[in-house]
Amino acid sequence: MSTAKSDRTPHLVLGIETSCDETGVALYETGTGLLAHEVFTQIDMHRIYGGVVPELASRDHVRRVVPLAREVLASAGRALPELTGIAYTAGPGLIGALLVGAGVAQALAFALGIPALGVHHMEAHLLAPMLEPDPPDFPFLALLVSGGHTMLVDVAALGSYRVLGESLDDAAGEAFDKTAKLLGLDYPGGPAVEKLALNGDPTRFRFPRPMTDRPGLDFSFSGLKTFTATTARKHADDPGAKADIARAFSDAVVDTFVIKCRRALRQTGRKTLLVAGGVSANRALRAGLGTLAEEMNVQVRYPALQFCTDNGAMVAYAGSLRLAAGASSANAFSVRPRWSLEELLPP
Ligand code: KG4
Ligand code: ZN
Repeated sequence: MSTAKSDRTPHLVLGIETSCDETGVALYETGTGLLAHEVFTQIDMHRIYGGVVPELASRDHVRRVVPLAREVLASAGRALPELTGIAYTAGPGLIGALLVGAGVAQALAFALGIPALGVHHMEAHLLAPMLEPDPPDFPFLALLVSGGHTMLVDVAALGSYRVLGESLDDAAGEAFDKTAKLLGLDYPGGPAVEKLALNGDPTRFRFPRPMTDRPGLDFSFSGLKTFTATTARKHADDPGAKADIARAFSDAVVDTFVIKCRRALRQTGRKTLLVAGGVSANRALRAGLGTLAEEMNVQVRYPALQFCTDNGAMVAYAGSLRLAAGASSANAFSVRPRWSLEELLPP
């Protein structure tokens, strides 16, 4: 990564992610790489409610952040005074949850006399594939598919983001989660729908590929959700239909992304596609985009599976790039539950 390499002082950055239902803490050193990371997922706590309960999430982050930070430092054999900066997710996300990470990061940075930096959660997701060996170079096209966002972004450089298209309603992960609920599957729904779809008959149902028959790069998943719900109701007496519905839904989502990525790659002429966010863990999506990459002679890159969903490593990494370039947030901090990626500037 050019920004990190051009700065000769090594930066040792603690990254803290608390935007939703995962507490992630990691330690990243410029020049060396990721030293340690830990994620505590609150899934078991929220499961009985069928989704994330924001206040419970905040309270659990309070319990986890400091012990996880201690663990990460200990497993890397490093101590607090060695830190040169602290990065935390400042948004978008759940406001109470964000405030926990921001509060701990700012207090710790103040006590240590080092800078703290609020990081954009989607920028962190977007950069996660760069944690892998042989990271791709800017510029590239990015497909961000998480529980809260679905976006195609043209990335010229760190901080230079042009959103080419986004979801007008549900995010891709949200569509997976709602489909899972409809089919009586566990929360979070993405992995459960993926697994069930493997046993489904791809020829039994054909679901619409939303917004692919008109120009543009925006997405819409609410119509697909309604179609899925109607089909599930119609076949409620047939337990075997569930896998076929999951398969039809998954095929429709994958096709939609393949069509829009093909269009965006043609439009921008980019030769690399980065895919990140929780849904980038989906193997059917990876297979579909793999075929597209061959067809178009482009590279497609993903984060490691453990860094597709929320984690501290991507926050530590994004923070390290910006801190190395001299950025920091003032001690008086604010978090932003809603925050457009296009408001970011290069460091
Ligand atoms: O990026 P992420 O951890 O959190 C947000 O920033 O939203 O994404 C979580 C989302 C959830 O909706 C989850 O169901 C989905 O990613 N997800 C998947 C898979 N793994 C996680 N969706 C489809 N297939 C998967 N294997
Ligand atoms: Zn996320």
